[in-house]
Amino acid sequence: MKSTFLIQRYVPEQDSAPHVERYELDLWDEATILDGLLAIKDSQDDSLAFRRACRHAICGSCSMVVNGYTKLVCKTAIASEVKRGRSELKITPMRSMKVLKDLIVDMSPFWKHFRDVEPWLQPDPAKVPPPNEEYRVTPQQLAPSRKDLNCILCAVCFSDCGVTEVDSHFAGPPALAKAHRFVTDPRDSKRKERLEKLVDLGLWDCAHAYNCMECPKHVDPAHAIADLRRISIEAGITNNIGAKHSQQFTKSVGRNGRLDETRLVMELTGITNVTGQIRNAPQGVRMLLKGKLPLPMHQKVDNPKEVRRIFETVGTKDEQ
Ligand code: FES
Repeated sequence: MKSTFLIQRYVPEQDSAPHVERYELDLWDEATILDGLLAIKDSQDDSLAFRRACRHAICGSCSMVVNGYTKLVCKTAIASEVKRGRSELKITPMRSMKVLKDLIVDMSPFWKHFRDVEPWLQPDPAKVPPPNEEYRVTPQQLAPSRKDLNCILCAVCFSDCGVTEVDSHFAGPPALAKAHRFVTDPRDSKRKERLEKLVDLGLWDCAHAYNCMECPKHVDPAHAIADLRRISIEAGITNNIGAKHSQQFTKSVGRNGRLDETRLVMELTGITNVTGQIRNAPQGVRMLLKGKLPLPMHQKVDNPKEVRRIFETVGTKDEQ
């Protein structure tokens, strides 16, 4: 099967800016993108730099951006891209990390966030069995972290996350999914401390683009983040803007069946906080001028009772 690879090349010590080089290939029908890169390196240009090791979607080394989406290239067939109507494969390095050479990036930011969540079990020493015995958990107890355990640290979700790209403080989907793995482990004794730290690391900063759901190992960091938020509220960690926003948002929709943005901002600021309300006024005026504030009054949905009934049903189920 014939294909064209357009690969971003860049050696910071030599090049003033990245440029694209074109390679024509004719490989077997099942060839992966990694097979294509190896063929280029073997027979066309041995200076091309990229990472790979296992070639079986296990080591997590070969992540790069293919036609706009980050993928493990050893797991992605050239044919699958061609089938998507991409006759040419544009290959660039992962985002949010500095390019070291061609398709190789400096993954220090990824590892920093990963270390920040302390990705190891911290059990209560008094409960740890003696060295010749196992600290056993049942499959049911580990069910909440089942998907998290599949993570191979490939950084695909880190590269595709829109928030990570603009906010270097945000821990990012892989670190948060790893944190979820330990927060939900019944043997860990630092649950509350972990959750409090996660708020500082950006637990509430995820903007729900859901790009991280395209995980090649089906980890689902978006669900892990939502679950961590739920667990943190249940653990009473509510003195932060994210938890307050979530609670007031739910209250507002539960009351009227529709979000009342004006009241949401006022309640978040504190109804009796006159200074805070005055400080918000210029933004309120700007929203008004842009038609973002409902006038003359916030309108309820036609049948708010129906929405309240849904809330009550969900609330009852949660309590059960
Ligand atoms: Fe190991 Fe692709 S080479 S995951």
